This record gives sequence, structure tokens and C-alpha cells, in this order.
Amino acid sequence: MEYEEGPLNANPRTTSLGDAFELIRPRLAEVERLLEQQIGNGPPTVRDAGAYVLEGGGKRLRPAMLLTVARLLGYEGDLDIAYAAVVEMIHTATLVHDDIIDHADVRRGRVTANNRWGNQLGVLLGDWLYIRSMEIALALGDQEVMRLLSRATVEMVEGEILGLELKGSMSVTRDQYLDIVRRKTAELFAACCTTPAHFSPAHAAYREPLARFGRNLGVCFQIVDDLLDVTASEASLGKPVFSDLREGKLTLPFILLLPHLDTERRGAIERVLTTGQLTGASEEQLRSWLERSGALEQSRAVAEGFGRAAVEALEPLPDSPERRLLAAAPTLVLNRRS
Ligand code: IPE
Ligand code: IPE
Ligand code: MG
Ligand code: MG
Repeated sequence: MEYEEGPLNANPRTTSLGDAFELIRPRLAEVERLLEQQIGNGPPTVRDAGAYVLEGGGKRLRPAMLLTVARLLGYEGDLDIAYAAVVEMIHTATLVHDDIIDHADVRRGRVTANNRWGNQLGVLLGDWLYIRSMEIALALGDQEVMRLLSRATVEMVEGEILGLELKGSMSVTRDQYLDIVRRKTAELFAACCTTPAHFSPAHAAYREPLARFGRNLGVCFQIVDDLLDVTASEASLGKPVFSDLREGKLTLPFILLLPHLDTERRGAIERVLTTGQLTGASEEQLRSWLERSGALEQSRAVAEGFGRAAVEALEPLPDSPERRLLAAAPTLVLNRRS
């Protein structure tokens, strides 16, 4: 498979994130097997609900990043597969808890675990996935990686806590938003990309650039997620749209929109934030305000900036098909539809 050179320039034949990860597809299949095995060894309810959430058609982006970096560094063992399963379990745990916090009924085009089994089981399933993933990582015996993964997990939870503290607020700043995004999403991306550089001391110098790559890609990814929430359709996204605003979360597009609005329109947005209902303003109205003010375009430019920073961070790494695949990841993320 050949890849086009240059920043933010993915192979034009690559149509989706899934296709892009052709290089590591067999390894990803091993990760799936390991995940199934882990869930299969859990208590009966975990087996049912755990299999349901893990089989739900997630993109497996975090394991794919980890496996690609391992390959880039010439790693030949199986630790990457085990850690890839660990990060997907951590990610899944956060989604299960996030859907309870966000009162989400649909994800990946299906009812959420909290909708199907209730919040009580959702909390416990998330806990089980978190702690079991840490137990697997602990058994692999690398304290540094264990520290990396547990730190990323704490950052994620703190990001969600900060988001909750600012719920309903009309005065969230761009810096506060970016801080939340870095914690809740980007630190796990950073940990995924750095983990394989801990498999050999020879790769110590790559840890920092890889962390920078993952962190910037993660911020880009979450801004795109927040853009899709206002631009995509539920059918393509697999989750309801405009849910962030209805959940009281002011995301970047709205932070950039607010200064352009008169008091009446700001009031309409505030009503959505505080009541959770799109009564004061319809989806079409909100979309048109976002578009006409330039807030969508500006948000996209911010996401692209993080994408470029991700690509630049790869510079110290040796050139290879894997590096080119990583360098194409921001474009794929920016063009993703789901
Ligand atoms: C969803 O992540 C949560 C965010 C960080 C926006 P993904 O979009 O990677 O979720 P799945 O696993 O592919 O469903
Ligand atoms: C990402 O935020 C959630 C975490 C990283 C825990 P969102 O709330 O935007 O994710 P979705 O949209 O529900 O997937
Ligand atoms: Mg959510
Ligand atoms: Mg979202």
C-alpha cells in the first residue's frame, strides 16, 4: 500500500479510518480475540453487557494507533496486542460511564448499555472494565506503562468532572474547553501512542514526540466529534445530534458563536443549555447561526491546527509506511463521518 507524502494529505484511495489500518489488520483481529476472552471470563452479567458494548462497532482507533506505533518501532513481541486490548477496555469503560452521565440512549446506532440494563449495571460494568484493564496491565509487569495508563485514566475522569462542573455555563472559555478536551480524550490517545516506545530503552527519545503526536491528534479528534454533533445526521453518526448543547455542554462551535449573537439569541441558547430542550431555537436555526457566524469554519480551522501539530510532532521518527500512516491520521480524523 502506498501513501501520499506531505502534511494532512492522506492517500486519496483511503476512504475511511478502517481502510487506513490495513497494515495492522491481523494484529487488530488478535486484539478482538483477547477482548472476547477477557469478557468471557467475567461474571455472567458482565459477559452479556460487556460483550454487547465491546461488539458495538467501535472504530478501534486507539488500539490501531498503539499497534501502528509498535510496528513503526519494529516491535516483534505480543505486548502491543495486550496493551491494545487494555486501552480499548479503558475507552469502553469511559463510554459506558459517559452515556450514564450524558443520559444517552443511543450509541453506535444501538441502545446504550444504561438504556438496556439500567444505570446500576452501567456503573458496575464500567468499573469492572476499568479495573480489569488495570489488572491486565499490572500483570504485564511494566511499571512505567502502568503509570502512563493510570495517569491517562485519571486525566479522563478529571476531564469529565471539569465538564460536569461547567455544565449549563454560558461563560466557558476556549481555554477551559481545550483543557477538558485534552484531559477527557487526548491523554488516552497520547498514552496509546507512547506505550510501545516503552518496550525498549532504545526508543526512549521517541516517547515525547509520540506523546505530542497522540495528544494533538486526540484534541483534533474531539473537536471533530463536537463538530459532528452539530453538522452530522443521527443516521451517519450512530448517536443523536445536538446532544452536547442539550446536555448543557458548550462546545467549541458554540463558544465561538456566542460573541456574534444578540441578547435574544444568546437567551435562546441558554434555554437549551439549562432546559435540555430545543424549544427556543430549532436545529436548523442553530445550524444556520453556526454557519453564518463562521463558527463552524473557525472550529474546523482549530481542529486542523491540532492536526498539523500532530503531523509535525512525528518529524524525529524514522520514515516508513507506518509513519506515513500516522501522518495521514489527522486528515482521516478530520474527514470522518462517524
Ligand atoms: C467516542 O470515541 C468518544 C470520544 C472521545 C469523542 P470514538 O468515536 O472513538 O468511539 P467508538 O469506539 O469508535 O465508538
Ligand atoms: C467524550 O465526550 C467522552 C469521553 C472521552 C469520556 P463526548 O460526550 O462528546 O462523547 P460522545 O459524543 O458521547 O461519544
Ligand atoms: Mg457523551
Ligand atoms: Mg460527542
